[in-house]
Amino acid sequence: MDKAQQDALKKAAGIEAAKLIHSGMIAGLGTGSTVRFLVDELGRRVKEEGLEFTGVTTSRRTQEQAEGYGIKIVDIDDVDHIDVTIDGADEVDKNFNGIKGGGAALLWEKIVATNSNKIVWIVDESKVVDTIGKFPLPVEVIPFGAGQVIKKFEAKGYKPVLRLDADGKEVRTDENNFVVDLHLDRIDHPQELAQDLITTVGVVEHGLFLNMVDQVIVGDPNGPRILDNPNKK
Ligand code: A5P
Repeated sequence: MDKAQQDALKKAAGIEAAKLIHSGMIAGLGTGSTVRFLVDELGRRVKEEGLEFTGVTTSRRTQEQAEGYGIKIVDIDDVDHIDVTIDGADEVDKNFNGIKGGGAALLWEKIVATNSNKIVWIVDESKVVDTIGKFPLPVEVIPFGAGQVIKKFEAKGYKPVLRLDADGKEVRTDENNFVVDLHLDRIDHPQELAQDLITTVGVVEHGLFLNMVDQVIVGDPNGPRILDNPNKK
């Protein structure tokens, strides 16, 4: 699949997901290239259909895009609930376990997700996999002592790589932390790995989102496909 085809599927998933947002709702807005299409569609509906809703964003990038469309964005601590959060994902398997954080927004994404009544992911079909882990697993770490955390990951065979930008500088998250990507190739025991990562001092959060998502909207050449997580009903 080339990039244009992939973008068309991402866009179709984003447009389908936008139908879940109605006036009066509080919506969590994720981060990434697929969510950009969602926000474009919501912006169109605000302008053309008079849609009015409040958003909580998972990154400053999404906040800027949404505010550019006149969408009202508030701080997560200024809402008492979030009706639905729509976000992208890097991989998702049949057990609704996924990897997120390719765009370095995993910490805010997980905070918004855990405070949402419903979580929906929008992906193109290439993200649906048998076993997660081919996509390098992002882990957000505190800069102080990050080298020590990386050494611990190396000793465990996690194949860590500190994420750098095009200028060779460490990528910083919205919380000013580093991202370490684990090149695991496959993750057969995600719960155990999640537990090990989150109990490593210096780790703030990891990109394993295990059985959290309620619904996945897959951009498919035959039209968007909706996968409902049976464990979340
Ligand atoms: C951001 O940190 C990520 O979790 C994204 O949601 C994920 O990387 C999907 O991004 P794309 O829609 O750009 O593939």
